[in-house]
Amino acid sequence: SEIDWSPDAAEKGGYEHYMLKEVFEQPEAIKNTIRGRIDLNRGTAILSGLNLTPREIVDIQRLLIVGCGTSMNAGLIGEYAVEDFAAIPAEVEQAAEFRYRNPIVGSRDMVLAISQSGETADTLAAVREAVDKGSLVAALVNVVGSTIARETGRGIYLHAGPEISVASTKAFTSQVSVLLMIALKIARSHRLSREDGIQIAKEIERIPELVQEVLDINDQIAEVAAHYANYDNAFYIGRGYMFPVALEGALKLKEISYIHAEGYHSAELKHGPIALLEESMPVIALLNQGPGQDKSLSNVAECKARKAPVLGVITAGDEEARKTCDHVIEIPACPQYTAVVPAAVALQLFAYHVARIRGCAIDQPRNLAKSVTVE
Ligand code: G6P
Repeated sequence: SEIDWSPDAAEKGGYEHYMLKEVFEQPEAIKNTIRGRIDLNRGTAILSGLNLTPREIVDIQRLLIVGCGTSMNAGLIGEYAVEDFAAIPAEVEQAAEFRYRNPIVGSRDMVLAISQSGETADTLAAVREAVDKGSLVAALVNVVGSTIARETGRGIYLHAGPEISVASTKAFTSQVSVLLMIALKIARSHRLSREDGIQIAKEIERIPELVQEVLDINDQIAEVAAHYANYDNAFYIGRGYMFPVALEGALKLKEISYIHAEGYHSAELKHGPIALLEESMPVIALLNQGPGQDKSLSNVAECKARKAPVLGVITAGDEEARKTCDHVIEIPACPQYTAVVPAAVALQLFAYHVARIRGCAIDQPRNLAKSVTVE
């Protein structure tokens, strides 16, 4: 076959799609996100763009996170981490909902807007509403100089590099990495000890390696995906930190493969979705070891009893989880708060291969835009 010398092919760096290129760029993108921002000695994060002293951080009573799409899903992981590490309340709200329902924002709340592009209309409107309400507003943005970055004046750039594919991948994992650092920083100005801070900081620094281990099994993930490419529907289930990963996994699949996919909390399955389970309804279960894994395994047994095919994302070497599922993708052992990243990467690759097998326009899915600047 002929060599494709077009500028487009050169930009893709040998990958068939921008999405795949960006998925594979993640170890580097996350390194760039983390670089210079971890203080291992003091067990904290350095986030100078936030422009807040520890004293000012102590004054923050609640974190309100706003965003849309994949950025909102990253925000949900941030909510779990802030409450887990720092024990201050955090909430996530869809940006349009925040804007239109006249939200209660106290003077000691901080609003954190998350947006890859920094141009999403609903998120920008939420930022303006929060500014008008007199609250502290910060942004987590990838595109330097974007509108949201300029209007908040206080924020953190992802440094993930340009993201071309409509389906967001490296921006998501960089957002999660920053959110963990924000949670660590807030926690250290509250009750988190230096020792515990150092432990968390070390785990955050391991994220690029964790991602690399998943990229290394790309071929296996492609083989697994072939078994799931011909269904019309899919459920994604998870609990705890893995619940937002289930939402993001389902979003990736529906965006690029057009398979109807729903993300559900594992415990919510019995409150409705179980009625749909049968041979033609696969379940993708986030089952890595951590609190509540026993419950998740029994949720999977319920799915199996109804003949639903089950793909598990499990901790490497977990034989019990492997036995429970029809197929598995293994992710490295690590705490739940960092496991979200390799688990999400596994689901990005899974969605990618399903869409590729189905012959979809992966980088330009129908009806979707990279950045939605209208309401
Ligand atoms: C669009 C894109 C999504 C993205 C969302 C939010 O819907 O297709 O991939 O997650 O906008 O974009 P933002 O740039 O604000 O993160």
